[in-house]
Amino acid sequence: MTWAVVPAAGRGARFGGDVPKQYLEVAGEPLVVHSLRALFAHPGVKGAVVVLAPDDARWRGWSDGSGRPVITCTGGDTRARSVLAGLAALPDEVRADGFVLVHDAARPNLRKADLAALLERGREDPVGAILATPVRDTLKRAGDDGGIDGTEPRERLWRALTPQLFRRLQLGRALEAAAADAIEVTDEAMAMERQGLRPLLVEGAADNIKVTTPADLAYFEFLLARRTM
Ligand code: CTP
Ligand code: MG
Repeated sequence: MTWAVVPAAGRGARFGGDVPKQYLEVAGEPLVVHSLRALFAHPGVKGAVVVLAPDDARWRGWSDGSGRPVITCTGGDTRARSVLAGLAALPDEVRADGFVLVHDAARPNLRKADLAALLERGREDPVGAILATPVRDTLKRAGDDGGIDGTEPRERLWRALTPQLFRRLQLGRALEAAAADAIEVTDEAMAMERQGLRPLLVEGAADNIKVTTPADLAYFEFLLARRTM
């Protein structure tokens, strides 16, 4: 039984503007709905928890018509705390060793094939898996004076994307441990790594972007228009 937890409780400070970016509309639907639709494209996803900010007045509910539930809960002041709230809101049918897909509301361009690959390979891994994409740029290490101290070999460096697939109880424990140590983990895998666990990297497309700035939104508009052409 695999459910999704979709953190959508952020304020979108880097994007700016009055509307939090997860509610910006493209082709008549908010980004959070595009992200949910991408998850529900896989029949193995049995439901979703959307994690909302405490003062959210914009969520209007959503269903893909299949009867799979989309429920909401209230998030926290960091992404990790929002994910923890989402895990707590999962129904009992998601057992302790049941899988949970964590996927950013702000990542509307998840490809069907990438989600399928993540589910297939992650469910076979003892720890779980994340979508990721290889780094393409040459990486420089900066000194305190702004000068270059060196070039990092990029062969083994990947950019972490979402979804990330882990077992409910194990992920909850890892996120709680990070919170107890006052470490702000920026993805689920980082919390698992701190436990000495080694999640699997599953290569996904680089266009699974997290909308962070207005330029990212324009790129998603372009990608969506091209998809439906
Ligand atoms: N998120 C969340 N709860 C938080 C912070 C973030 O649920 N306290 C969610 C965001 O809504 C987003 C995802 O986590 O879907 C990824 O976070 P990010 O891109 O950083 O979004 P924001 O925090 O909203 O943006 P910013 O950091 O620019 O303020
Ligand atoms: Mg943020």
